[in-house]
Amino acid sequence: MELSFENKVVVVTGAAGGFGSATARAFADAGAHVVVSDIDSAGAQEVAAGLPSAIAVTTDVTDADAVRGLVETAESAFGGVDVMVNNAGVPHRAGALVDLDVEAVDRQLAVNVRSVFLGCKYAVPALRRRGGGVVVNVASIAAKRPRPGLTVYNATKGAVITLTRGLAVEVAPDVRVNAVNPVIAETGFVKSLTGSAALPDDLRADWVAGIPMARTASARDVATAIVFLACDQAGFLTGVCLDVDGGRSIQ
Ligand SMILES: NC(=O)c1ccc[n+]([C@@H]2O[C@H](COP(=O)([O-])OP(=O)(O)OC[C@H]3O[C@@H](n4cnc5c(N)ncnc54)[C@H](O)[C@@H]3O)[C@@H](O)[C@H]2O)c1
Repeated sequence: MELSFENKVVVVTGAAGGFGSATARAFADAGAHVVVSDIDSAGAQEVAAGLPSAIAVTTDVTDADAVRGLVETAESAFGGVDVMVNNAGVPHRAGALVDLDVEAVDRQLAVNVRSVFLGCKYAVPALRRRGGGVVVNVASIAAKRPRPGLTVYNATKGAVITLTRGLAVEVAPDVRVNAVNPVIAETGFVKSLTGSAALPDDLRADWVAGIPMARTASARDVATAIVFLACDQAGFLTGVCLDVDGGRSIQ
């Protein structure tokens, strides 16, 4: 079964980062035109430059005008939008909820939840202008199996799952809305979480011990799941929040 995105236009937010860049490349490998969006302009340009048909768009996903502009830019550059991947998101620094600054919590809600609302709000009409399409949101397995120390982040991802399932019903049958729930992966996320670029060995060992597949997720694992949820062969799947967790959530 070959998954083809020939002549399709895919927008990926947070596409300079680990999951986003792998997702942009996976869609490009399947033939898509890709709109590589990130708040990190240089990073987005670097990813786009490595793809056969792509543009980079600097976007702060918390900014409504910027997200509306992102969709409009995709439509003017490539003629429409077929797939919107709401991937941009950040964890707060690991620690107890009672020690979190109110500002940090507001930022979590803005980057992880408001962003997905905006991405859906502006992408769904664009998908419909093409006769239909797909939204894929990036949630987290932490929404289903929360660990201590990331409580607010986990709650933001719970909101993404509920938004995904609710919107799937609201916009069917022409638009499908799905999500992925990744387990820990060693991307830029680790730096945001721990303050250091590499996951400390003891923390990795502790986390991997809870993953039956005995490793952390790769960006490619997550990208492959996103591409599958967006493909035509998955045309009956909507409201699916796919665990990409090596079995972690079973135990
Ligand atoms: N890596 C993990 O362990 C893990 C697990 C589950 C879910 N996730 C989720 O996956 C998604 C991607 O994370 P990642 O692991 O690739 O991390 P990453 O840090 O490598 O990438 C995140 C990207 O988002 C961008 N970004 C941050 N704030 C932004 C904003 N306001 N506007 C636009 N872009 C912004 C960053 O510049 C970065 O390129 C996030 O939603 C994250 O919460 C990650």
